[in-house]
Amino acid sequence: MRVLLIGSGGREHALAWKLAQSPLLDHLFIAPGNPGTAQHGTNVPLDVGNHRDIIAFCRQEHIGFVIIGPEAPLVAGIVDDLEAAGIQAFGPSKEAARLEGSKAFTKELCQVANIPTAAFTRFTEAGAAKEYVRGTGAPIVIKADGLAAGKGVVVASTLDEALKAIDMIFGGAFGSAGVEIVVEECLFGEEASFFALVDGHTAVPLASAQDHKRVGDGDTGPNTGGMGAYSPAPIVTDAIRDRVMQEMILPTVHEMKRRGTPFKGVLFAGLMITPDGPKLIEYNTRFGDPECEVLMPRLQSDLLAALIATVEGRLKADDLVWSDDAALAVIYAAKGYPAAPVTGSVIGSLEAAETLDDVHVFHAGTKRAADGTLCSSGGRVLAVTATGATLQAAHDRAYAALGKIDWADGFYRHDIGNKALAP
Ligand code: AMP
Ligand code: GLY
Repeated sequence: MRVLLIGSGGREHALAWKLAQSPLLDHLFIAPGNPGTAQHGTNVPLDVGNHRDIIAFCRQEHIGFVIIGPEAPLVAGIVDDLEAAGIQAFGPSKEAARLEGSKAFTKELCQVANIPTAAFTRFTEAGAAKEYVRGTGAPIVIKADGLAAGKGVVVASTLDEALKAIDMIFGGAFGSAGVEIVVEECLFGEEASFFALVDGHTAVPLASAQDHKRVGDGDTGPNTGGMGAYSPAPIVTDAIRDRVMQEMILPTVHEMKRRGTPFKGVLFAGLMITPDGPKLIEYNTRFGDPECEVLMPRLQSDLLAALIATVEGRLKADDLVWSDDAALAVIYAAKGYPAAPVTGSVIGSLEAAETLDDVHVFHAGTKRAADGTLCSSGGRVLAVTATGATLQAAHDRAYAALGKIDWADGFYRHDIGNKALAP
């Protein structure tokens, strides 16, 4: 089968690496891809926003299956357009991607399907939102309704911060994503990332994982797309996994099917594990990044076969087989990330890290200069990932690999995985 993978981050490099091992694969194309994905297939410089061009490319290259990595094309309806053109695609329809694209949509679905989540109220106007927040006091959470590249959420610890957040969002900081806001009760506990493949009718959970959202050691500083991840996440016990499947994932699958807008793809639940049990913070409708970088090295079964079974509505529990090994990924980010990353600086000695046993250096924000030199080109630049018999072993290998890379403009967190490691 000839496959097209859409996206260009560390998630897509990890997916490309895994897809390349599939006996079902004849050739992999990645649009637009990055220097890492180019090791496993052919990068094509397509504009992902131009569905007509994507379809024309698929026809020309006899693509049998398209896999969409990031959320923006899903929310823009790329899967609907591909299917209308008779091309099989992995990912939710535009309507089903509203689970990620609209926080208000998801909160209302939670109400209808009785899914545990933070109490919430929606507002379309600043005055009423402020009056409400003055009544509740802080801490309180203010969210722009739509997609805001992970920046549309303010966990306000004071009333003043909450009021400023309301002004910022209604002031147009996130464009049309901020025409409505959701004000939420603040949840307390430990966060975890939960993934399930969903084929429209049923769902199969992936292995557990945890991300590190804040930029600095000890969970300090601004939120990012994620600074590191590990799998398994001991906080997601078998009992928690079963509750999340019964109380969140399956009710969501059934409700979406009942509405005539079945969800197909990866459903990613951001969880808060509270003293009362797991609560849903938000849904995403794609693999997490950098969670995907720790899940793929642990997946023993064929990823492509499982994704095809998902699209064809015949997913089975044994389609996903996981290694007992642990995996840990540390993001090597550009100085200045997340606000203003420095780009265009040379990254050296990558081979010294890549050739270590059980290490994968997934490219996230890199590009090749005209002379072939590898340079940084984004905020999150590399996901340095290692596996090991224990999380400690994976941790030590990932940090040893980081130490081999020669990059003056990078930084990383030093405490990835510490919550799950023995003190
Ligand atoms: P989101 O973009 O919805 O994932 O939110 C980003 C981050 O904000 C989450 O990973 C949490 O750390 C935090 N957050 C979101 N909603 C809440 C909530 N209701 N209570 C506490 N923290 C939250
Ligand atoms: N790592 C969190 C995300 O992909 O949204």
